[in-house]
Amino acid sequence: MASVSLSSVRKVYPNGYEAVKGVSLDISDGEFVVLVGPSGCGKSTTLRMVAGLEEISGGTIAIGPRIVNDIEPKDRDIAMVFQNYALYPHMTAFQNMAFALKLRKTPKDQINKRVGEAARMLHIESLLDKRPKEMSGGQRQRVAVGRAIVREPKCFLFDEPLSNLDAKLRITTRAELKSLHQRLKTTTIYVTHDQEEAMTLGDRIVVMSNGEIQQAGPPLEVYRRPANRFVASFIGTPPMNFIDGAIEANGDGLAFASPAGVRLALAADRLASMRAHIGKPVTLGVRPQGMAIADANSSMDRVWSTKLLVVEPLGDAMDLTCELPGGQRLVARVPAREMISPGSKISMAIDVGQVHYFAPGEHGASL
Ligand SMILES: Nc1ncnc2c1ncn2[C@@H]1O[C@H](COP(=O)(O)OP(=O)(O)O)[C@@H](O)[C@H]1O
Ligand SMILES: [Mg+2]
Repeated sequence: MASVSLSSVRKVYPNGYEAVKGVSLDISDGEFVVLVGPSGCGKSTTLRMVAGLEEISGGTIAIGPRIVNDIEPKDRDIAMVFQNYALYPHMTAFQNMAFALKLRKTPKDQINKRVGEAARMLHIESLLDKRPKEMSGGQRQRVAVGRAIVREPKCFLFDEPLSNLDAKLRITTRAELKSLHQRLKTTTIYVTHDQEEAMTLGDRIVVMSNGEIQQAGPPLEVYRRPANRFVASFIGTPPMNFIDGAIEANGDGLAFASPAGVRLALAADRLASMRAHIGKPVTLGVRPQGMAIADANSSMDRVWSTKLLVVEPLGDAMDLTCELPGGQRLVARVPAREMISPGSKISMAIDVGQVHYFAPGEHGASL
């Protein structure tokens, strides 16, 4: 196993497009790090540079103490698992898993032992004689993971390995990958566009946008303290609601006010940091979980009366889409209750303790 260190890594493709703009990231030995972000933000390019499948335009990459910029992929001691499995179609599962070991001239009894152990771990012992076309997508992906495990690499690289699986299988396989990492403790870099997959798998998640790291940290820290509006909107489901407005003096305190009529006193612990923003535009952010239907005994600040547009029951909870007077839509996730129907007028409340403020713009910093 080994640490992996990226320092100001850049990638400019031959057509001049800069896909990765100076990424620096230190991954500890044994850590499970997830690169997450929307399609096209540079996740795969970053991972492929670590693997050596893509040349680096600037910066350095080290695996353990060794800088690998000019080291061939096969000599980097990493194993990569792709979305499309990339198994050899004419080989059985056993042969697929054994292939890299054979090339390395590993003794036969060693090969049998390692493939056997990996097959047991992944519950694919009964598949060892089958060819890929005789397997389901989930089974093929297990074989692809098995092929990576038997090589006992310093580092696993995963590029959206679950994307081709159906929703249910994705969730069970994800839990298995996590438990596999807890057993093997091999340094892992995992790429996904799915924020929920990132949150559930990563010791640390690295949120990317436009070829740059926006924030890196443990999943709950990123969820609770997003560094900017982009991270706040990307992590968490349903996405955070944003309301543009400004900070105003409000007696001794401060208030947020928006043209759409939302007015909210700031929590006492925000006053010191927000006083500098009086009169300036800010964006309020609140997660759907930080909103509620106001009633007489609600401890939250009642905020506004809205029209309820859509009700989406989820079982224990429901998502309410409501509309502010100016037409802006907000989503609230509230405990499920009967007798609430689209078209009705309701009063929404916000938990001021769960409110975030951001500088204007898509990547506006958290204030
Ligand atoms: N060979 C290439 N030549 C030019 N542009 C590329 C090439 N490969 C990827 N890109 C571009 O680089 C950006 C990042 O791609 P990629 O790393 O695959 O994103 P992600 O994996 O986050 O979806 C995208 O805009 C993509 O179109
Ligand atoms: Mg990709």
